[in-house]
Amino acid sequence: MIPLVYDQINAWGKDDEFFLRLLNKINAEKIADLGCGTGRLTTHFVKAGNRITAIDPNEEAIDYAKSKECPEGVTWIVGDSTNLQPRAFDAVLMTANVAQVFLTEESWKAVISDAYRALKPGGHFIFDTRNPLAKVWEEWEKDETPDVATDPLSGERLEIWTEYEGFADDVFTFYETVKNARTDEVVIHEKMQLRFRTQEEIYKSLHQAGFSQIQTYGDWEFEQATEETKSFIFHGVK
Ligand SMILES: C[S@@+](CC[C@H](N)C(=O)[O-])C[C@H]1O[C@@H](n2cnc3c(N)ncnc32)[C@H](O)[C@@H]1O
Repeated sequence: MIPLVYDQINAWGKDDEFFLRLLNKINAEKIADLGCGTGRLTTHFVKAGNRITAIDPNEEAIDYAKSKECPEGVTWIVGDSTNLQPRAFDAVLMTANVAQVFLTEESWKAVISDAYRALKPGGHFIFDTRNPLAKVWEEWEKDETPDVATDPLSGERLEIWTEYEGFADDVFTFYETVKNARTDEVVIHEKMQLRFRTQEEIYKSLHQAGFSQIQTYGDWEFEQATEETKSFIFHGVK
């Protein structure tokens, strides 16, 4: 995640609408937005009247989020799931594939167990993640054009180039380079890795952590996921 350009290259989409609709359905009041990043969705959750604890380990992203115009009701924390208070939330959310940043089994189990502990009885754990069977990285690898953004300070045009290392051991590795389009100067170069887990693996880990009524929606229409859906949206209840 590169806070400097993240909001500019991640436009509002069907996935974001989905999360707002789902939160509305379950009538959650106190929400943890884990891996909130630049607060792209957090600010919408709070506008819907929710009280939010928004957590991310990326300090620059949290600083950016705090600088946005946002109504009262958000507590911003630089941290991770270990900062979640026990039995405090009606819902814990991880949006925009935060679930895929947990590369090891150990870190994945730890975040699920922290989410479980943080929920009130009857609370909801909701997150999305990409279906490994859809092999979306094959589409990504065909795209050779850079994304473009504007440097908010200088107003200069930036290009975001992606190099793909590939998929190995369920992890897709790639590199993002932000360049000044005029001078070609490299502003940021970052390695990124995403872990892909199957629907069965995730279901099993949620079940083992104690979650029940586990639903898996596919592709933002509240329909049950199939083998072909590009994304899974998991929804479990404590
Ligand atoms: C793709 S961004 C999603 C941001 C935001 N949820 C959204 O919808 O725009 C993934 C986020 O996960 C965060 N992240 C990385 N490691 C994390 C961890 N251990 N716990 C929580 N979040 C983490 C990153 O800093 C990044 O902001």
